[in-house]
Amino acid sequence: MLIKTAEFVKSSTTYKLCPEKKLPEYAFIGRSNVGKSSLLNMLTNKSKLAKISSKPGKTQTINHFIINDSWFLVDLPGYGYAQISKKERVKWEKFVVEYIIMRENLHCLFILIDSRLEPQKIDLEFMELMAINSVPFALIFTKIDKKSKGAVETNIENYKNLLLKTWAELPAILITSSVTEFGKEEILNFIEDVTLKIEKQDEQVVK
Ligand code: GTP
Ligand code: MG
Repeated sequence: MLIKTAEFVKSSTTYKLCPEKKLPEYAFIGRSNVGKSSLLNMLTNKSKLAKISSKPGKTQTINHFIINDSWFLVDLPGYGYAQISKKERVKWEKFVVEYIIMRENLHCLFILIDSRLEPQKIDLEFMELMAINSVPFALIFTKIDKKSKGAVETNIENYKNLLLKTWAELPAILITSSVTEFGKEEILNFIEDVTLKIEKQDEQVVK
């Protein structure tokens, strides 16, 4: 799939204020600083579309971007930001998790994982929460330019083995670098495939 246009639509502080649920939607979540906003910019070829920062906690609202006038990409605030107060964390959980669960047009939630790190409890718990709520999700390993190919492969293999200890099957797994643009085509094709599959299912339901 080619991205021809990508425009900012709206920042929302609650799911109730988000745009109408009429279009297919794909969102990025993961720990603060994992590279959600950078990935959105890389995919859309617009380096300044979503705001990025080397300091965690940059994205604070639910940000909708319309792609090719036909579907949404959504940049979400990250979790696991150490400096945040308990009150703030509860607020985050309420508004971001509520958005994810209430958004019926969310075709797939991409959970971003830093490819350099050992599996983190907070990510594993978040995946559990998504599974319990039947939220369709895929994993994206980020920042692969920061380590050697071998080290990244070993880390991802270990990650998969750990998941398979508790999960019957693995979610879709994608690998990226927003610096080298590795994984761009694969993610865009994945989105296109999911959209087509869901459109087909909806047609069958109507028939
Ligand atoms: P929050 O909005 O705070 O939750 O963070 P985020 O997940 O949106 O991360 P963001 O895209 O702002 O990136 C955080 C930092 O990581 C920035 O300094 C980026 O330049 C850097 N970064 C993001 N992706 C990559 C990548 O693929 N490779 C490298 N080397 N750096 C990256
Ligand atoms: Mg961000």
